[in-house]
Amino acid sequence: MPQIGRYAHITGWGAHVPSRAVTNDDLSQILPTSDAWIRQMTGIVERRIAEEGEYTSTMAIQAGRQALKMANLDPLTLDLVICATSTPDYLMPNTASLIQDGLGAGKAAAFDLNTACSGFVYAVSVAAGLIKGGLYERILVIGAESMSRVMNWSDRSTCVLFGDGAGAVVLEASDRPGGVLASKLGSDGSGGDQLMVGLGTRLPITEDSVARGETAMKMNGQQVFRFATRIMNEATREVTAMAGLQLGDIDLIIPHQANTRILEVAAKQLSIPPGRIYANLHRYGNTSAASIPLALVDALAEGRIRAGDHLVFVGFGGGLTWGACLVEWSYGPRRHWSVSQRAWRWMRDRVAGVKRGLHSLDRRLSGASRGKG
Ligand code: ACO
Repeated sequence: MPQIGRYAHITGWGAHVPSRAVTNDDLSQILPTSDAWIRQMTGIVERRIAEEGEYTSTMAIQAGRQALKMANLDPLTLDLVICATSTPDYLMPNTASLIQDGLGAGKAAAFDLNTACSGFVYAVSVAAGLIKGGLYERILVIGAESMSRVMNWSDRSTCVLFGDGAGAVVLEASDRPGGVLASKLGSDGSGGDQLMVGLGTRLPITEDSVARGETAMKMNGQQVFRFATRIMNEATREVTAMAGLQLGDIDLIIPHQANTRILEVAAKQLSIPPGRIYANLHRYGNTSAASIPLALVDALAEGRIRAGDHLVFVGFGGGLTWGACLVEWSYGPRRHWSVSQRAWRWMRDRVAGVKRGLHSLDRRLSGASRGKG
């Protein structure tokens, strides 16, 4: 039950994408595709692809660190880390725990949340609920994906669409009105087979199943397209009404970045100018749960968001799942920190790193001595 007078504000944000950019022309060297087809059908121009040694957790840690810096928060004050991802480093341990350790957030709980491309909206909604309910004060929400690792790179109908990256926000409790005002989440499991990555315990991972592409992404593009346009319209309208607002009060919609044509259809259905729907998918492709926070960070950097603006985050994807959050943006442009504040944060990060190293050494040594005993 939400506590009266308690709000959940976004106080920090950060993003990280791999440095390796792969253009449509690059893909046309290895697949029967073309820059013209991909641009015209999707709006994507390039995507970032994780290099060897780069994983969902490592990208998420970079994004999370930036978000914590922006919020000027010591990682040790975090209560919870939620990682929205459908491409975790492992099935176990969960990626959020790897991130929690990597950030030195030693007092935080951590869990993964997998609702594919709706994951970030689900995670923000859960985090806001936990804060408004009085359970937690400070939560780090990260959307992070290594989509390139679950692609069938010979299937041109899917592999050209996706990319890798991570985006993060810090949510904090406050008695100041604003922040996440409303959320609407939904699911239709009967459409699960429309968009799936078969990796899991149901499908044995054998040389044959991998060679047949059964463990890679499969999508019914046209069905997903229809679902996405319908849901963007419905979920945006519903969450706006839940917050007691009109569509005309929305300053910017930050949708899941799947396809420019989906965004154009949604703009028509919502009767709003296309300029009020933010898009950066030409840069990153579809990064699933990372796409909304990556778009939020770019929109902020471009000065598209001001304090007091009403934003809608709207996501749709595998499950099938969908979700929308209405956020009253309460913080202005990036705060500037003094040299001494920056030095303090640098020191704090180093100390957290050393503590983590000692902790893990201690665990290894005690494991070794138990082994001998
Ligand atoms: N390059 C060139 N030709 C291609 C490519 C490609 N990369 N991919 C498909 N084609 C060809 C097909 O083989 C087909 O050729 P044919 O007519 O000779 O058989 C033709 O293009 C049309 O293919 P369709 O799949 O029917 O094309 P469609 O109009 O459905 O567009 C697209 C495909 C862009 C994927 C579209 O369906 C779409 O955007 N769907 C939504 C997908 C989406 O947004 N998914 C993510 C949402 S959820 C999430 O993010 C996880």
